[in-house]
Amino acid sequence: MIRPLTKRDVDILEERGLWKASSSLYVVIRRLIRGKRPLEIGYIKNAHRIIFETANQPGIAGKYRRDNPELKRLDGSLLEIAHWRDIPNKMAELDVELRSVTKDLKLPKTEEEYAEIVDLAIRFSHRLACIHPFENGNGRSSRLLLNAILLRAELPVVAIKEEKPQYLQAMQQADHGDFSLLWKMIVKGIIRSKELQYDIIRRKRAELAKRRRRIR
Ligand SMILES: Nc1ncnc2c1ncn2[C@@H]1O[C@H](COP(=O)(O)OP(=O)(O)OP(=O)(O)O)[C@@H](O)[C@H]1O
Ligand SMILES: [Mg+2]
Repeated sequence: MIRPLTKRDVDILEERGLWKASSSLYVVIRRLIRGKRPLEIGYIKNAHRIIFETANQPGIAGKYRRDNPELKRLDGSLLEIAHWRDIPNKMAELDVELRSVTKDLKLPKTEEEYAEIVDLAIRFSHRLACIHPFENGNGRSSRLLLNAILLRAELPVVAIKEEKPQYLQAMQQADHGDFSLLWKMIVKGIIRSKELQYDIIRRKRAELAKRRRRIR
């Protein structure tokens, strides 16, 4: 007899789905950079489909919700999300704007350009979280959008794991137009990600040097 999936099984499957979705999005964005093409909201919708198809939840995978759940913010107040009937229009609007701002994104050279990209990434990500288009996986989709914008500008991606409470606090502040905490978290994440990349390069170089010494 097949036993029903436990919460832990579902979490593992969703984690695997997220990994698959991120890898596939990464490949798409490399292509967009090469072709100087913009990001589209369809790529995020497709990433959502991959997560939940992998996690045996085809009923919600890449599909917009058809109800209006009552969701609470961290402080217990009601999170205002889009009415389900408005989701396709709001997502279409988001798509037009996203294409327009990401069509010629380049690796930032000045502090100002860098700040502009982080600003774009956090604002679009927060907007998607507020539309809350899916039954579940809205946080993951909005963070995938954030990383997709950073990647399109050739910046490293950010992972939010143990800082979840601080992230929810930052999202709540952003609801009131204050993006400073979200900004701080994302910049810190980019720097951490960059340091990790340097660590890997340093280790690879040391290994290579060791191998060369052995050959001589
Ligand atoms: N005050 C808020 N303003 C905007 N978005 C919020 C707020 N509070 C929570 N959210 C978003 O809702 C998400 C939770 O919704 P949902 O359960 O659909 O996403 P998830 O991907 O399953 O969750 P998680 O982010 O825990 O992985 C949060 O991660 C966050 O992105
Ligand atoms: Mg959830």
